[in-house]
Amino acid sequence: MNELDFGGKTVLVVGGSSGIGNGIAQAFRAKGAEVHVYGTRATAKDYANEEGSDLTGLQYAKLDVSNASSIESLAPAFSKLDVLVLAQGTVFYKRGEFELEGFRKVMEVTLMSLRACGAKFHPMLKASAGQFIIVSSTAAFHSTKGNPSYNASKTGAVGLTRTLGEAWAEDGIRVNGIAPGLVDTKLTKVTTANPKRLEGAVANIPLKRLGTPADMAGAALFLASPLSSYIVGQTLIVDGGLIL
Ligand SMILES: NC(=O)c1ccc[n+]([C@@H]2O[C@H](COP(=O)([O-])OP(=O)(O)OC[C@H]3O[C@@H](n4cnc5c(N)ncnc54)[C@H](OP(=O)(O)O)[C@@H]3O)[C@@H](O)[C@H]2O)c1
Repeated sequence: MNELDFGGKTVLVVGGSSGIGNGIAQAFRAKGAEVHVYGTRATAKDYANEEGSDLTGLQYAKLDVSNASSIESLAPAFSKLDVLVLAQGTVFYKRGEFELEGFRKVMEVTLMSLRACGAKFHPMLKASAGQFIIVSSTAAFHSTKGNPSYNASKTGAVGLTRTLGEAWAEDGIRVNGIAPGLVDTKLTKVTTANPKRLEGAVANIPLKRLGTPADMAGAALFLASPLSSYIVGQTLIVDGGLIL
């Protein structure tokens, strides 16, 4: 038996249009799954030639997760779902999250939408005894001085993972999470595109390199597979040792 064969499985990655979610989506596709991804742009063509976005072989649809009613009214292009990965997230720089409006917007996208997407797809996951994976962040485990809303969202995401893990186990759904360290995506360009900041950041990582979407995908495949069949409500830290 190949536990990492996802042939015949349907996977949805919200935030699968770019970065970590895109790497996770492509990894499930490479393992045989039918993979759907959601992002903010109108069509898949709008991501052509975009660094960190490879929509080859993925089925794309637009969904703005900052709007709970858009999530509720969404008509998915699939009728069964085996794996749900929530990789959406946003961050405001330049003290934008210290304004109540900015704080609320980041919360809507990065925390509230996890609950709304979970509720939307709970019936499908229950029907398939599926796997639910929430992408949080190592930011959940320490302060991030300039980003109070991102930090609170990610801390909340770890708590939600724990709690839905317990609550939905009786439905046959395993809920787990991934907490990435520093991965080079458009979210982190403020650090990775600045040579001095990048050097300082890498110096703090015991493995002496940034994480990649493929590094995160390895953890996602594991958590969605029978190899992790007795793991529930846990958030796996995948950070090259950053927060040790
Ligand atoms: N990069 C890191 O170092 C790092 C570290 C820890 C945790 N994370 C987390 O990993 C996840 C993925 O982030 P990333 O680094 O891969 O950044 P990214 O490339 O910017 O990906 C973010 C994803 O979320 C989607 N998204 C953002 N706002 C949305 C909205 N309102 N509605 C629907 N989708 C929305 C984006 O869609 P578009 O492609 O259309 O913009 C994209 O698919 C996030 O939860 C992030 O917080 C990242």
